[in-house]
Amino acid sequence: MPGDRTTRSRADRVVARVGELAQLSEDDGALTRRYGTRPLAEALDRVEGWLREAGLSTSRDGIGNLVGRLEGERPGLPALAIGSHLDTVRDAGAWDGQLGVLLGLDQAERLAQAAAAGATGLPFALEIAVFADEEGLRFPTAYLGSQAWAGLWDDAQLALADTDGIPLADAVRAMGGDARTIAQAARAPGEVLAWCEAHIEQGTRLERAGVPLGVVTAIQGQTRCTATFRGQAGHAGTTPMDSRRDALLAAAEWALAVESEALAVAELVATVGRLTVSPGAANVIPGEVSATLDARHPDDATRREAVAALSAFAEDIAAMRGVELEWRQDTDNASVVMAPRLQELLGRAVQETTGAAAPRLASGAGHDAAPLSRITDVSMLFIRCRAGISHNPLEHVEPEDVAATIAALDRFVQLLAEAERG
Ligand code: HGY
Ligand code: MN
Ligand code: MN
Repeated sequence: MPGDRTTRSRADRVVARVGELAQLSEDDGALTRRYGTRPLAEALDRVEGWLREAGLSTSRDGIGNLVGRLEGERPGLPALAIGSHLDTVRDAGAWDGQLGVLLGLDQAERLAQAAAAGATGLPFALEIAVFADEEGLRFPTAYLGSQAWAGLWDDAQLALADTDGIPLADAVRAMGGDARTIAQAARAPGEVLAWCEAHIEQGTRLERAGVPLGVVTAIQGQTRCTATFRGQAGHAGTTPMDSRRDALLAAAEWALAVESEALAVAELVATVGRLTVSPGAANVIPGEVSATLDARHPDDATRREAVAALSAFAEDIAAMRGVELEWRQDTDNASVVMAPRLQELLGRAVQETTGAAAPRLASGAGHDAAPLSRITDVSMLFIRCRAGISHNPLEHVEPEDVAATIAALDRFVQLLAEAERG
């Protein structure tokens, strides 16, 4: 039960490790861990050490994902994969991604100890998947790690550059990966029996419902684009206002149009998250500005219609302001439904261990479960987080809710094993 000593002591170790991993950052005093950086490599090494200490075999794939494996009642069985991602956004919270990885590690430790004590193995293997890039903070991609598992890798992505012009191929090398073998990371049909990811809710529905855990029903689709406005740089002091081609003002007008469209279409959320202004000097009229778009909606057709409208708005604004527009769609991920049979098992596990029914929640955030749904049944457990704050250092989860998650995952593994034995 969540309150018993072992579950609580396991939760305390998960919480301590969250704090330990959060120290591995590119930035002093903040948590930023992008793909291809030393801190991310160190975090993967740290988790690999813990997996090996627990007795699991470990491996890395061409994109830099880490996988720990514990065999079931006989070698070579399809695996229940549990895990999440270790990369972060900029100035991130310590729980997004990390918590799911460390809860998977906790399950591995429990099951490896049980096996060492002579317990009957499970009718499936256990794999702990630690994905090397989910957020897409550094490169215009999303889910680099899990898309490799899903067989979605495209070698053309190696040429994608970050804002410093460094190609993804260099970052793959920095991760100890190998561009020649990334495609081989694709999991064969049937290798993965099921995916289960525990993740902070990043919203307030569980907090408002007064319960620690929810079962995810679906992940809404998302499109990411880059709109680059090219005007003419000029002297801020000598160029008359009526003869400027100011790229920043075009981008700013477009950003407001994005907000208006999102307010007009029910359930649409659209965000201009990054403006890159050049030359970026106080006394120079901006010549070129690139603006990112992140648009999401539960219905794929509605989302795609909205993105088409926002692209047309950008064209119109550029024409009116005498600037050129380059429009690039970077990612497009369809909405995904969680496997009903796993939702039911997770719901039972939560009910039996917390005594409270688990709300069914659609996810506004993207998760590795989305690409993984192409190769296996996927499921997610949402964990209450304080005030729903996320992608922010104020992100926080109470240890009691970590304990409740541990108890629910213990029971979920048992229920899945019973279901597999038939
Ligand atoms: O953007 C997202 O929804 C996730 O945090 N990658
Ligand atoms: Mn995130
Ligand atoms: Mn996440």
